[in-house]
Amino acid sequence: MRRFLIAGNWKMNCGPKETSTLLQGIKDIIEDMPEAVDGLVCPPTISLTTASVELQDIEGLALGAQNVHSEDNGAFTGEVSTEMLKEVNCEYVILGHSERRQYFGETDKTVNAKVNKALIDGIKPVICVGESLEQRKANEHKLRVKKQVQAALIGVEDEDASNLVIAYEPIWAIGTGETATPDQAQKMHAMIREEVADLYSDDTANQIRILYGGSMKPHNAEELLEQPDVDGGLIGGASLKADSFTDIIHVADELSESN
Ligand code: PGA
Repeated sequence: MRRFLIAGNWKMNCGPKETSTLLQGIKDIIEDMPEAVDGLVCPPTISLTTASVELQDIEGLALGAQNVHSEDNGAFTGEVSTEMLKEVNCEYVILGHSERRQYFGETDKTVNAKVNKALIDGIKPVICVGESLEQRKANEHKLRVKKQVQAALIGVEDEDASNLVIAYEPIWAIGTGETATPDQAQKMHAMIREEVADLYSDDTANQIRILYGGSMKPHNAEELLEQPDVDGGLIGGASLKADSFTDIIHVADELSESN
């Protein structure tokens, strides 16, 4: 069975000092991650070193970055490499978040190059896909997301595929307080899993974790996480407070126990 992954995408919030405070706050509440749930925090690049030190005290809570470059090194001002991320103990990297696609020129092609690079170098990509409100209204959401999944996975071998995570994040639900209904989320997650099965195998599709992202909060986490194909959350706003993030972790833990 797939374990829940509860992931915090801190976006451009929390420098090193606030990172220490937030992680200590999380530690104060949960001590370590519950045994049945995997945790992940993705602070801004400048705070990764601090986070890596703090996380030595919180078992089960992994570290991830919000982006990486697809080359090893060189003249790429402002970028970081997979090796640099590994040096500060990053196990995951968020790739293709809609904000990066919208504001920083990220395309299906650059996302695909980064996904392959991360997998080759042993970092697990959290690939973000999702449709805009216009696309949903035009009933193009399934096609859009399917194409994003296909494009992100070009060149990825079956044996590497089980190391990746996909996050379904409808753009209209990100930071808006509006959430996909559990039924909308389940339908999209099932469609994504089917696509992975078509590209690879049922086995691989059953192993891959598909997270839901877009205004997941303590009050709606249960109804989303109890959907059969929702394997966790990629959480923005609610991951910036120790109590709301740990509340969602507790919801996942309770659901794991009842399964
Ligand atoms: P949100 O962000 O939870 O604040 O909607 C989610 C995300 O963008 O990953």
